[in-house]
Amino acid sequence: MWNFLPLLSLLGSVPFVSAIPNGIVIARATTASSASVSAPPVRSYQSSEPHTPFSGTPSTTGALTASSIGTGISSGGVAPDATTYPSDGKLHNAEPAPYVPAGGVGTNGSTPVYNAKSDFDYESLALALYQEWIELDLFRDGLKRFSAEDFKAAGLNAADRDLIEFMAEQEVGHATLISNILGAQAPQQCAYNYPYTNVHEFLDFCQKLTRFGEAGVYGFLAHLDSREAATLLTQSITTEARQQMIFRQFQGLFPMPVWFEVGIPQSWAWTLLAPYISSCPSNQTRLVWQNFPALRILNQPSIATAGGTSNSTGLNNTISSGTNVVKSPNGSSGSNSSSDCGATVTSDIGALSFPGRQVALQWETAGKGVGPNNSYITSTQAKTGKYVAWVSQLNVTYTPLRVVNSTGNSTGRGYTSQPDLETYQGDPAINGTMFIAITDDNPVLTPFNLSLINPHVVAGPAVYQAG
Ligand SMILES: *[C@@H]1O[C@H](CO)[C@@H](O)[C@H](O)[C@H]1NC(C)=O
Ligand SMILES: *[C@@H]1O[C@H](CO)[C@@H](O)[C@H](O)[C@H]1NC(C)=O
Ligand SMILES: *[C@@H]1O[C@H](CO)[C@@H](O)[C@H](O)[C@H]1NC(C)=O
Ligand SMILES: *[C@@H]1O[C@H](CO)[C@@H](O)[C@H](O)[C@H]1NC(C)=O
Ligand SMILES: *[C@@H]1O[C@H](CO)[C@@H](O)[C@H](O)[C@H]1NC(C)=O
Ligand SMILES: *[C@@H]1O[C@H](CO)[C@@H](O)[C@H](O)[C@H]1NC(C)=O
Ligand SMILES: *[C@@H]1O[C@H](CO)[C@@H](O)[C@H](O)[C@H]1NC(C)=O
Ligand SMILES: *[C@@H]1O[C@H](CO)[C@@H](O)[C@H](O)[C@H]1NC(C)=O
Ligand SMILES: *[C@@H]1O[C@H](CO)[C@@H](O)[C@H](O)[C@H]1NC(C)=O
Ligand SMILES: *[C@@H]1O[C@H](CO)[C@@H](O)[C@H](O)[C@H]1NC(C)=O
Ligand SMILES: *[C@@H]1O[C@H](CO)[C@@H](O)[C@H](O)[C@H]1NC(C)=O
Ligand SMILES: *[C@@H]1O[C@H](CO)[C@@H](O)[C@H](O)[C@H]1NC(C)=O
Repeated sequence: MWNFLPLLSLLGSVPFVSAIPNGIVIARATTASSASVSAPPVRSYQSSEPHTPFSGTPSTTGALTASSIGTGISSGGVAPDATTYPSDGKLHNAEPAPYVPAGGVGTNGSTPVYNAKSDFDYESLALALYQEWIELDLFRDGLKRFSAEDFKAAGLNAADRDLIEFMAEQEVGHATLISNILGAQAPQQCAYNYPYTNVHEFLDFCQKLTRFGEAGVYGFLAHLDSREAATLLTQSITTEARQQMIFRQFQGLFPMPVWFEVGIPQSWAWTLLAPYISSCPSNQTRLVWQNFPALRILNQPSIATAGGTSNSTGLNNTISSGTNVVKSPNGSSGSNSSSDCGATVTSDIGALSFPGRQVALQWETAGKGVGPNNSYITSTQAKTGKYVAWVSQLNVTYTPLRVVNSTGNSTGRGYTSQPDLETYQGDPAINGTMFIAITDDNPVLTPFNLSLINPHVVAGPAVYQAG
């Protein structure tokens, strides 16, 4: 436990303690004796907040900024030492110990310290914490708002509802873990406001929200300075990935129609998350990330379009921009297939979308107050929208945007066509719950430099339900 004193003293002033030092103690105690030990406490949270929009005036506006801001990140070439390792299956350096190859980060015996080590780390982890807090509130809100009968009509039984409740408990743990890493100013739980009106819409919202929570973390995980924090975050985000898949199964979707799970930049996750936070406590720690103008898909694919090949399926079929949750009538399974009825381990429902499918889009222009207390302002550094970026699995690809009406003030309207490409032969890249955005350019980007897309984002992202 003394190993973690630096972290413990950092947390000395907050009413919750680090799970890490105590976690180690538990492991020792259970192997050494049968004595029962008490686990570290979880961070306290509200069990019920009103779920209403914010209607006041924010006391502050805009993202967190440093005293100095640069003009942008220019793309450099390949780092000189990036290609020097021979990668030939032989050992090229002395082994530091038997069976131990040279190299690695955090492998030289120095004591791990589970903290944030840069602004990048702090802001990324704080964003992840905002996400854990909303999930905790969301899962419980659905269970509270809809009756056992409502869930039954959507194909979910008591055990399924218990699983959703257990997911909420997992979020208590995740929120505690990240709070302990961040310390005393860790963001607190806020008040939220959700767009769903029935169980189907609730499940769709959860499925899409957990997707951008998961993808938002994949986007920054390998970029963290703190490998220690990255290790713990990996162990919580893999749980979130399971939640996302279970919500897909609850909807009757094919559980995992892709070979790779997509990552997105932090500002994309924040853009998608912020609209559902109505207000935060007065001393809330603010975030540095950008809120882009909202993007609405006017014909979002859904289980109701499975097997269809019509371009005009369900125009204006969403209840929200950004997440683009599909509108569902009460009491229907929402499915196009009579054999499908709610929750199932897997189902061959067929493709929800298809290459060449015409996608109708509508987007806002910048300058709108969004997020906690409407205190963040949407912005873009991009010029006129020319492309739609499709961010899925390992790929970023672009299709031309056909603008049909851009009023120049509050909204734009346009179309594009779903592209046709594979990650590897046999794996259609555009599938699953993925992301699109309107951009002014089509730079070549790969998963590790995707955030360089941000200066080109005109509006979005939107969650696109390709499959
Ligand atoms: C992103 O990385 C790829 C290599 O993986 C490179 O070809 C591309 O130029 C990079 N994009 C930018 C904008 O630097
Ligand atoms: C181990 O690596 C860390 C990070 O590179 C370094 O700060 C530390 O000095 C190293 N410790 C030893 C004993 O070499
Ligand atoms: C905000 O105030 C509460 C109550 O005094 C305190 O517990 C919390 O740590 C503060 N949060 C921040 C981010 O300063
Ligand atoms: C759907 O049912 C819920 C209660 O289960 C109700 O609150 C909501 O208003 C209904 N929506 C519509 C569109 O009928
Ligand atoms: C947001 O609203 C809450 C609740 O009304 C208030 O306590 C808090 O100070 C507000 N924060 C900002 C930044 O306006
Ligand atoms: C439903 O599926 C059938 C084929 O199974 C298809 O012909 C029809 O267009 C689909 N309906 C919609 C609304 O997509
Ligand atoms: C879709 O909604 C927009 C306004 O958001 C409206 O102008 C348009 O007519 C609607 N289209 C259909 C087919 O309902
Ligand atoms: C997505 O994957 C599912 C499962 O393999 C498949 O049935 C469907 O055709 C795919 N959709 C697209 C758009 O390729
Ligand atoms: C859908 O729209 C695309 C692009 O406009 C067009 O090429 C295709 O033929 C359309 N498909 C159908 C079934 O109308
Ligand atoms: C574009 O939108 C404006 C305002 O809604 C409307 O007056 C105009 O007719 C639209 N133009 C087209 C080409 O649809
Ligand atoms: C946007 O511009 C159109 C056409 O000039 C105008 O009719 C409309 O009122 C404007 N909307 C806003 C929100 O300013
Ligand atoms: C993306 O898709 C193209 C075309 O299928 C492929 O050549 C490329 O290697 C893929 N991967 C990445 C990381 O761009």
